[in-house]
Amino acid sequence: MGPLAVTQLLALISLTVAMDNGLLKTPPMGWMAWERFRCDIDCKDDPENCIREDLFRDMADRLVEDGWKELGYEYVIIDDCWMSMLRDEHGRLQPDPFRFPGGIAKLARYIHDRGLKLGIYADMGTHTCMGFPGTTLDTINIDAQTFASWGVDYLKFDGCSSNPIEQMLGYPLMSKALNATGRPMAYSCSWPVYVGGLPPKVNYSLLGDICHLWRNYVDIQDSWDSVQGIVEWFSNNQDDLQPAAGPGRWNDPDMLIIGNFGLSVDQARAQMALWAIMAAPLIMSNDLRNLDNSARFILQNKVAVAINQDSMGIQGRRLLQEKNHIEVYWRPLSHSASALVFLSRRTDMPSLYHTSLAKLKYDTGNYEAYDVFTGSTVTGLNATTQFTLSINPSGVVMWYLGIYADMGTHTCMGFPGTTLDKIDMPRPLPAGG
Ligand code: GLA
Repeated sequence: MGPLAVTQLLALISLTVAMDNGLLKTPPMGWMAWERFRCDIDCKDDPENCIREDLFRDMADRLVEDGWKELGYEYVIIDDCWMSMLRDEHGRLQPDPFRFPGGIAKLARYIHDRGLKLGIYADMGTHTCMGFPGTTLDTINIDAQTFASWGVDYLKFDGCSSNPIEQMLGYPLMSKALNATGRPMAYSCSWPVYVGGLPPKVNYSLLGDICHLWRNYVDIQDSWDSVQGIVEWFSNNQDDLQPAAGPGRWNDPDMLIIGNFGLSVDQARAQMALWAIMAAPLIMSNDLRNLDNSARFILQNKVAVAINQDSMGIQGRRLLQEKNHIEVYWRPLSHSASALVFLSRRTDMPSLYHTSLAKLKYDTGNYEAYDVFTGSTVTGLNATTQFTLSINPSGVVMWYLGIYADMGTHTCMGFPGTTLDKIDMPRPLPAGG
Protein backbone atom coordinates (compact mmCIF):
# COMPACT_ATOMS: atom_id res chain seq x y z
CA MET A 1 0.00 0.00 0.00
CA GLY A 2 1.44 3.41 -0.98
CA PRO A 3 1.74 6.24 1.54
CA LEU A 4 -1.14 8.15 -0.05
CA ALA A 5 -3.50 5.22 0.18
CA VAL A 6 -2.57 4.74 3.82
CA THR A 7 -3.23 8.38 4.60
CA GLN A 8 -6.58 8.26 2.84
CA LEU A 9 -7.55 5.11 4.66
CA LEU A 10 -6.52 6.65 7.92
CA ALA A 11 -8.56 9.78 7.26
CA LEU A 12 -11.55 7.57 6.58
CA ILE A 13 -11.08 5.58 9.75
CA SER A 14 -10.55 8.67 11.86
CA LEU A 15 -13.79 10.19 10.58
CA THR A 16 -15.64 7.25 11.98
CA VAL A 17 -13.92 6.91 15.33
CA ALA A 18 -14.09 9.38 18.09
CA MET A 19 -13.20 7.85 21.41
CA ASP A 20 -15.58 10.24 23.05
CA ASN A 21 -17.21 8.02 25.60
CA GLY A 22 -16.86 10.59 28.35
CA LEU A 23 -14.16 8.66 30.21
CA LEU A 24 -11.03 10.06 31.82
CA LYS A 25 -12.03 13.69 32.02
CA THR A 26 -9.18 13.77 34.54
CA PRO A 27 -6.05 11.61 34.32
CA PRO A 28 -6.58 7.98 35.31
CA MET A 29 -5.47 6.84 38.76
CA GLY A 30 -4.72 3.35 39.88
CA TRP A 31 -2.18 0.57 39.97
CA MET A 32 -0.40 -1.37 37.23
CA ALA A 33 1.79 -4.45 37.55
CA TRP A 34 4.59 -3.81 35.08
CA GLU A 35 7.36 -1.69 36.60
CA ARG A 36 7.39 -3.54 39.93
CA PHE A 37 6.40 -7.09 38.98
CA ARG A 38 7.45 -7.27 35.31
CA CYS A 39 7.08 -10.68 33.71
CA ASP A 40 7.60 -12.76 36.81
CA ILE A 41 5.76 -15.97 35.97
CA ASP A 42 7.67 -18.15 38.41
CA CYS A 43 4.78 -18.89 40.74
CA LYS A 44 6.53 -21.96 42.11
CA ASP A 45 9.51 -20.13 43.59
CA ASP A 46 8.01 -16.66 43.87
CA PRO A 47 4.31 -17.13 44.62
CA GLU A 48 3.89 -13.72 46.26
CA ASN A 49 5.18 -11.74 43.28
CA CYS A 50 4.34 -13.68 40.17
CA ILE A 51 1.78 -12.43 37.63
CA ARG A 52 -1.35 -14.32 38.61
CA GLU A 53 -4.88 -13.54 39.73
CA ASP A 54 -3.99 -13.45 43.45
CA LEU A 55 -1.62 -10.52 42.87
CA PHE A 56 -4.41 -8.44 41.34
CA ARG A 57 -6.89 -9.44 44.03
CA ASP A 58 -4.36 -8.51 46.71
CA MET A 59 -3.82 -5.11 45.14
CA ALA A 60 -7.57 -4.53 44.81
CA ASP A 61 -7.95 -5.34 48.51
CA ARG A 62 -5.21 -2.90 49.42
CA LEU A 63 -6.68 -0.14 47.23
CA VAL A 64 -9.98 -0.48 49.04
CA GLU A 65 -8.79 -1.09 52.58
CA ASP A 66 -5.87 1.32 52.76
CA GLY A 67 -7.60 4.49 51.65
CA TRP A 68 -6.49 4.58 48.00
CA LYS A 69 -9.87 4.15 46.38
CA GLU A 70 -11.43 7.10 48.19
CA LEU A 71 -8.63 9.29 46.83
CA GLY A 72 -9.40 8.21 43.28
CA TYR A 73 -6.96 5.33 42.71
CA GLU A 74 -9.47 3.04 41.01
CA TYR A 75 -7.92 1.08 38.12
CA VAL A 76 -6.20 -2.27 38.72
CA ILE A 77 -4.29 -2.90 35.50
CA ILE A 78 -2.87 -6.20 34.32
CA ASP A 79 0.19 -5.73 32.10
CA ASP A 80 2.03 -8.19 29.86
CA CYS A 81 2.43 -11.92 30.60
CA TRP A 82 -1.15 -12.73 31.61
CA MET A 83 -1.92 -14.73 28.49
CA SER A 84 -1.77 -18.33 27.51
CA MET A 85 0.59 -18.88 24.58
CA LEU A 86 -2.37 -20.15 22.56
CA ARG A 87 -5.67 -18.60 21.57
CA ASP A 88 -8.75 -20.75 22.30
CA GLU A 89 -10.64 -22.79 19.69
CA HIS A 90 -12.66 -19.68 18.72
CA GLY A 91 -9.52 -17.63 18.18
CA ARG A 92 -9.93 -15.66 21.40
CA LEU A 93 -7.13 -14.63 23.71
CA GLN A 94 -7.24 -16.54 26.96
CA PRO A 95 -5.38 -16.19 30.25
CA ASP A 96 -2.75 -18.64 31.38
CA PRO A 97 -4.87 -21.42 32.94
CA PHE A 98 -2.50 -22.07 35.83
CA ARG A 99 -1.95 -18.49 36.89
CA PHE A 100 -5.51 -17.26 36.20
CA PRO A 101 -7.58 -20.38 36.92
CA GLY A 102 -10.75 -18.35 37.58
CA GLY A 103 -10.47 -16.46 34.29
CA ILE A 104 -10.51 -12.73 33.70
CA ALA A 105 -14.30 -12.30 33.93
CA LYS A 106 -14.26 -13.61 37.49
CA LEU A 107 -11.34 -11.35 38.39
CA ALA A 108 -13.25 -8.42 36.87
CA ARG A 109 -16.24 -9.25 39.08
CA TYR A 110 -14.02 -9.34 42.15
CA ILE A 111 -12.64 -5.94 41.24
CA HIS A 112 -16.03 -4.43 40.35
CA ASP A 113 -17.56 -5.74 43.58
CA ARG A 114 -15.08 -3.54 45.39
CA GLY A 115 -15.97 -0.47 43.37
CA LEU A 116 -12.78 -0.63 41.30
CA LYS A 117 -12.11 -1.03 37.58
CA LEU A 118 -10.05 -3.58 35.68
CA GLY A 119 -7.47 -2.79 33.03
CA ILE A 120 -5.79 -5.28 30.72
CA TYR A 121 -2.87 -5.33 28.29
CA ALA A 122 -2.69 -6.33 24.63
CA ASP A 123 -0.25 -5.59 21.84
CA MET A 124 -0.76 -4.35 18.30
CA GLY A 125 1.55 -6.77 16.50
CA THR A 126 2.32 -10.43 16.17
CA HIS A 127 3.59 -10.74 19.75
CA THR A 128 3.55 -8.75 22.97
CA CYS A 129 6.86 -7.27 24.09
CA MET A 130 7.45 -10.41 26.17
CA GLY A 131 6.50 -12.78 23.37
CA PHE A 132 2.88 -13.63 24.22
CA PRO A 133 0.19 -13.65 21.50
CA GLY A 134 -0.29 -10.28 19.84
CA THR A 135 -3.31 -8.65 18.26
CA THR A 136 -2.93 -8.45 14.50
CA LEU A 137 -5.20 -6.41 12.22
CA ASP A 138 -7.48 -9.40 11.69
CA THR A 139 -7.98 -10.09 15.43
CA ILE A 140 -8.68 -6.54 16.62
CA ASN A 141 -12.45 -6.97 16.61
CA ILE A 142 -12.50 -10.30 18.35
CA ASP A 143 -10.07 -9.09 21.01
CA ALA A 144 -12.09 -5.96 21.70
CA GLN A 145 -15.22 -8.09 22.02
CA THR A 146 -13.47 -10.56 24.30
CA PHE A 147 -12.32 -7.78 26.62
CA ALA A 148 -15.81 -6.26 26.70
CA SER A 149 -17.36 -9.66 27.42
CA TRP A 150 -15.04 -10.08 30.40
CA GLY A 151 -16.02 -6.69 31.82
CA VAL A 152 -12.70 -4.96 31.16
CA ASP A 153 -12.71 -1.18 31.74
CA TYR A 154 -9.33 -0.12 30.35
CA LEU A 155 -7.04 -1.38 27.60
CA LYS A 156 -3.32 -0.69 27.40
CA PHE A 157 -2.49 -1.38 23.74
CA ASP A 158 1.25 -1.81 23.27
CA GLY A 159 3.05 -1.84 19.92
CA CYS A 160 5.87 -4.40 19.92
CA SER A 161 6.26 -6.60 16.81
CA SER A 162 4.41 -4.40 14.36
CA ASN A 163 5.49 -1.96 11.67
CA PRO A 164 4.45 1.71 11.38
CA ILE A 165 1.78 0.96 8.78
CA GLU A 166 0.18 -1.72 10.92
CA GLN A 167 0.26 0.69 13.85
CA MET A 168 -1.26 3.47 11.76
CA LEU A 169 -4.13 1.17 10.86
CA GLY A 170 -4.38 -0.83 14.05
CA TYR A 171 -4.61 1.88 16.71
CA PRO A 172 -7.62 3.65 15.11
CA LEU A 173 -9.24 0.30 14.33
CA MET A 174 -8.97 -0.82 17.94
CA SER A 175 -10.54 2.46 19.02
CA LYS A 176 -13.41 1.78 16.66
CA ALA A 177 -13.70 -1.83 17.81
CA LEU A 178 -13.78 -0.84 21.48
CA ASN A 179 -16.51 1.70 20.73
CA ALA A 180 -18.47 -0.88 18.81
CA THR A 181 -18.66 -3.19 21.82
CA GLY A 182 -20.88 -0.65 23.57
CA ARG A 183 -18.87 -1.07 26.78
CA PRO A 184 -17.13 2.14 27.84
CA MET A 185 -13.44 1.30 28.04
CA ALA A 186 -10.54 3.64 28.54
CA TYR A 187 -8.01 3.25 25.75
CA SER A 188 -4.29 3.74 26.36
CA CYS A 189 -2.19 3.76 23.19
CA SER A 190 1.55 3.11 23.12
CA TRP A 191 1.67 4.10 19.45
CA PRO A 192 3.72 7.32 19.86
CA VAL A 193 6.58 5.47 21.60
CA TYR A 194 7.05 3.30 18.53
CA VAL A 195 7.33 6.24 16.14
CA GLY A 196 9.58 8.50 18.18
CA GLY A 197 7.00 10.38 20.23
CA LEU A 198 7.03 13.65 18.28
CA PRO A 199 5.36 15.37 15.33
CA PRO A 200 5.36 15.07 12.39
CA LYS A 201 5.56 11.32 12.92
CA VAL A 202 2.99 11.52 15.70
CA ASN A 203 -0.30 13.25 14.98
CA TYR A 204 -1.40 14.30 18.45
CA SER A 205 -4.75 15.63 17.37
CA LEU A 206 -5.66 12.28 15.80
CA LEU A 207 -4.38 10.48 18.92
CA GLY A 208 -6.55 12.68 21.11
CA ASP A 209 -9.55 11.71 19.01
CA ILE A 210 -8.99 7.98 19.24
CA CYS A 211 -7.21 7.36 22.58
CA HIS A 212 -7.72 8.62 26.12
CA LEU A 213 -4.03 8.51 26.91
CA TRP A 214 -0.82 7.53 25.24
CA ARG A 215 2.70 6.61 26.18
CA ASN A 216 5.05 9.06 24.47
CA TYR A 217 8.46 7.95 25.61
CA VAL A 218 10.62 5.12 26.96
CA ASP A 219 9.70 2.85 29.87
CA ILE A 220 10.28 4.10 33.38
CA GLN A 221 12.76 2.16 35.51
CA ASP A 222 13.20 2.15 39.27
CA SER A 223 15.70 4.99 39.46
CA TRP A 224 15.98 8.77 39.80
CA ASP A 225 17.98 8.85 36.56
CA SER A 226 15.02 7.37 34.77
CA VAL A 227 12.57 9.86 36.31
CA GLN A 228 14.89 12.76 35.44
CA GLY A 229 15.34 11.53 31.87
CA ILE A 230 11.59 11.34 31.36
CA VAL A 231 10.94 14.79 32.84
CA GLU A 232 13.73 16.23 30.73
CA TRP A 233 12.36 14.75 27.51
CA PHE A 234 8.80 15.88 28.24
CA SER A 235 9.98 19.38 29.13
CA ASN A 236 12.32 19.73 26.17
CA ASN A 237 9.40 18.81 23.92
CA GLN A 238 6.65 20.59 25.82
CA ASP A 239 5.70 22.85 22.93
CA ASP A 240 4.59 19.77 21.02
CA LEU A 241 3.27 17.73 23.92
CA GLN A 242 1.61 20.15 26.32
CA PRO A 243 -1.13 21.38 23.93
CA ALA A 244 -2.06 17.77 23.10
CA ALA A 245 -3.37 17.14 26.62
CA GLY A 246 -6.79 17.98 27.98
CA PRO A 247 -9.84 16.28 29.48
CA GLY A 248 -10.13 12.80 27.94
CA ARG A 249 -6.70 12.99 26.25
CA TRP A 250 -3.53 12.69 28.28
CA ASN A 251 0.19 12.33 27.74
CA ASP A 252 1.54 9.43 29.80
CA PRO A 253 5.11 9.69 31.10
CA ASP A 254 4.62 6.20 32.62
CA MET A 255 4.06 4.74 36.07
CA LEU A 256 4.73 6.17 39.52
CA ILE A 257 7.58 4.19 41.05
CA ILE A 258 7.20 5.70 44.52
CA GLY A 259 7.46 3.03 47.22
CA ASN A 260 9.97 0.84 45.40
CA PHE A 261 13.75 0.72 45.75
CA GLY A 262 15.13 3.48 43.56
CA LEU A 263 13.94 6.82 44.96
CA SER A 264 14.78 8.72 48.14
CA VAL A 265 11.94 10.49 49.95
CA ASP A 266 12.89 13.76 48.25
CA GLN A 267 13.01 12.11 44.83
CA ALA A 268 9.65 10.46 45.48
CA ARG A 269 8.11 13.84 46.30
CA ALA A 270 9.68 15.17 43.12
CA GLN A 271 8.08 12.45 41.01
CA MET A 272 4.68 13.07 42.59
CA ALA A 273 5.00 16.85 42.15
CA LEU A 274 6.12 16.67 38.53
CA TRP A 275 3.49 14.10 37.58
CA ALA A 276 0.88 16.45 39.08
CA ILE A 277 2.25 19.36 37.05
CA MET A 278 2.29 17.23 33.87
CA ALA A 279 -1.35 16.14 34.34
CA ALA A 280 0.06 12.62 34.10
CA PRO A 281 -1.81 9.43 34.90
CA LEU A 282 -1.23 8.55 38.56
CA ILE A 283 -0.74 4.86 38.03
CA MET A 284 1.42 3.34 40.72
CA SER A 285 3.55 0.31 40.14
CA ASN A 286 4.67 -0.74 43.59
CA ASP A 287 3.85 -3.35 46.18
CA LEU A 288 0.87 -1.96 48.07
CA ARG A 289 1.19 -4.84 50.55
CA ASN A 290 4.58 -3.52 51.65
CA LEU A 291 4.70 0.23 51.44
CA ASP A 292 6.42 2.42 53.97
CA ASN A 293 4.63 5.40 55.44
CA SER A 294 6.70 8.02 53.67
CA ALA A 295 5.72 6.59 50.26
CA ARG A 296 2.11 6.26 51.38
CA PHE A 297 1.94 9.88 52.58
CA ILE A 298 3.39 11.16 49.31
CA LEU A 299 1.08 9.10 47.09
CA GLN A 300 -1.91 9.95 49.26
CA ASN A 301 -1.13 13.66 49.48
CA LYS A 302 -4.56 15.11 48.85
CA VAL A 303 -3.38 18.44 47.51
CA ALA A 304 -0.90 16.87 45.07
CA VAL A 305 -3.68 14.54 43.88
CA ALA A 306 -6.14 17.45 43.59
CA ILE A 307 -3.63 19.42 41.52
CA ASN A 308 -3.13 16.42 39.24
CA GLN A 309 -6.88 15.95 38.93
CA ASP A 310 -7.73 19.62 38.33
CA SER A 311 -10.88 19.82 36.25
CA MET A 312 -9.51 22.24 33.65
CA GLY A 313 -7.06 19.53 32.64
CA ILE A 314 -4.38 21.92 31.39
CA GLN A 315 -0.96 20.29 31.41
CA GLY A 316 1.76 22.35 33.05
CA ARG A 317 5.13 23.43 31.70
CA ARG A 318 8.72 23.94 32.70
CA LEU A 319 9.02 27.71 33.12
CA LEU A 320 12.73 28.04 33.50
CA GLN A 321 16.03 26.31 34.04
CA GLU A 322 18.55 28.25 36.08
CA LYS A 323 22.25 27.84 35.42
CA ASN A 324 22.62 26.47 38.94
CA HIS A 325 20.34 23.51 38.13
CA ILE A 326 17.22 24.79 39.83
CA GLU A 327 14.15 24.46 37.60
CA VAL A 328 10.68 25.90 37.97
CA TYR A 329 7.52 24.22 36.73
CA TRP A 330 4.04 25.72 36.62
CA ARG A 331 0.48 24.57 35.98
CA PRO A 332 -2.65 26.73 35.77
CA LEU A 333 -5.58 25.41 37.81
CA SER A 334 -9.24 26.13 38.18
CA HIS A 335 -10.47 28.95 40.49
CA SER A 336 -7.66 31.15 39.09
CA ALA A 337 -5.21 29.10 41.12
CA SER A 338 -1.93 27.57 40.00
CA ALA A 339 0.76 25.15 41.10
CA LEU A 340 4.49 25.79 41.16
CA VAL A 341 7.22 23.23 41.56
CA PHE A 342 10.78 24.26 42.33
CA LEU A 343 13.04 21.32 41.48
CA SER A 344 16.68 21.04 42.40
CA ARG A 345 18.72 18.87 40.09
CA ARG A 346 21.78 19.50 42.21
CA THR A 347 23.57 16.77 44.11
CA ASP A 348 25.27 18.77 46.84
CA MET A 349 23.19 20.35 49.59
CA PRO A 350 19.89 22.19 50.10
CA SER A 351 19.92 25.24 47.83
CA LEU A 352 18.50 28.62 48.63
CA TYR A 353 16.49 29.98 45.74
CA HIS A 354 15.54 33.67 45.67
CA THR A 355 12.76 34.77 43.40
CA SER A 356 9.38 36.51 43.17
CA LEU A 357 6.13 35.67 41.45
CA ALA A 358 6.70 38.55 39.05
CA LYS A 359 9.95 36.88 37.96
CA LEU A 360 7.84 33.80 37.25
CA LYS A 361 5.56 35.91 35.03
CA TYR A 362 2.70 36.18 37.51
CA ASP A 363 0.38 39.16 37.16
CA THR A 364 0.09 41.87 39.74
CA GLY A 365 -2.09 40.70 42.60
CA ASN A 366 -2.15 39.26 46.07
CA TYR A 367 -1.45 35.62 46.57
CA GLU A 368 -1.37 32.92 49.20
CA ALA A 369 0.82 29.87 48.87
CA TYR A 370 0.27 26.47 50.42
CA ASP A 371 3.34 24.25 50.65
CA VAL A 372 2.03 20.89 49.47
CA PHE A 373 4.50 18.67 51.30
CA THR A 374 4.99 20.59 54.55
CA GLY A 375 1.47 21.97 54.98
CA SER A 376 2.71 25.47 55.79
CA THR A 377 1.22 28.56 54.21
CA VAL A 378 2.78 31.78 53.00
CA THR A 379 0.38 34.70 53.17
CA GLY A 380 0.65 38.31 52.10
CA LEU A 381 2.52 37.62 48.89
CA ASN A 382 2.17 40.00 46.01
CA ALA A 383 3.81 39.61 42.66
CA THR A 384 6.89 41.61 43.59
CA THR A 385 7.45 40.14 47.06
CA GLN A 386 10.91 38.58 47.15
CA PHE A 387 10.95 35.15 48.76
CA THR A 388 13.56 32.50 49.42
CA LEU A 389 13.05 28.75 49.33
CA SER A 390 15.32 25.98 50.48
CA ILE A 391 15.20 23.06 48.01
CA ASN A 392 16.80 19.74 48.87
CA PRO A 393 19.12 18.10 46.32
CA SER A 394 17.03 16.05 43.88
CA GLY A 395 14.00 17.35 45.71
CA VAL A 396 11.21 19.82 45.29
CA VAL A 397 9.24 22.53 46.96
CA MET A 398 5.68 22.41 45.66
CA TRP A 399 3.26 25.29 46.07
CA TYR A 400 -0.45 25.56 45.51
CA LEU A 401 -1.08 29.24 44.87
CA GLY A 402 -4.41 30.98 45.26
CA ILE A 403 -5.22 34.52 44.32
CA TYR A 404 -6.12 36.46 47.42
CA ALA A 405 -8.67 39.15 46.58
CA ASP A 406 -8.36 41.52 49.53
CA MET A 407 -10.19 44.43 47.90
CA GLY A 408 -13.28 42.47 47.08
CA THR A 409 -14.75 39.22 46.14
CA HIS A 410 -13.67 39.26 42.53
CA THR A 411 -10.50 39.36 40.52
CA CYS A 412 -9.71 42.44 38.46
CA MET A 413 -11.34 40.75 35.49
CA GLY A 414 -14.51 39.98 37.42
CA PHE A 415 -13.84 36.32 38.10
CA PRO A 416 -14.44 34.95 41.58
CA GLY A 417 -11.66 35.79 43.99
CA THR A 418 -10.06 32.78 45.61
CA THR A 419 -8.73 32.65 49.10
CA LEU A 420 -7.19 29.51 50.50
CA ASP A 421 -10.23 28.88 52.69
CA LYS A 422 -12.40 28.69 49.56
CA ILE A 423 -10.31 26.09 47.85
CA ASP A 424 -12.04 22.78 47.68
CA MET A 425 -9.12 20.87 49.11
CA PRO A 426 -8.96 19.01 52.35
CA ARG A 427 -6.46 20.49 54.77
CA PRO A 428 -4.38 20.06 56.79
CA LEU A 429 -2.23 17.22 55.56
CA PRO A 430 -1.39 14.24 57.71
CA ALA A 431 1.85 14.71 59.60
CA GLY A 432 4.77 13.89 57.33
CA GLY A 433 2.63 14.30 54.21
C1 GLA B 1 6.61 -2.29 26.84
C2 GLA B 1 5.80 -1.23 27.56
C3 GLA B 1 5.86 -1.46 29.07
C4 GLA B 1 5.33 -2.84 29.39
C5 GLA B 1 6.14 -3.88 28.62
C6 GLA B 1 5.54 -5.27 28.75
O1 GLA B 1 7.98 -2.17 27.12
O2 GLA B 1 6.24 0.06 27.25
O3 GLA B 1 5.09 -0.48 29.74
O4 GLA B 1 3.98 -2.92 29.06
O5 GLA B 1 6.18 -3.58 27.23
O6 GLA B 1 6.24 -6.23 28.04
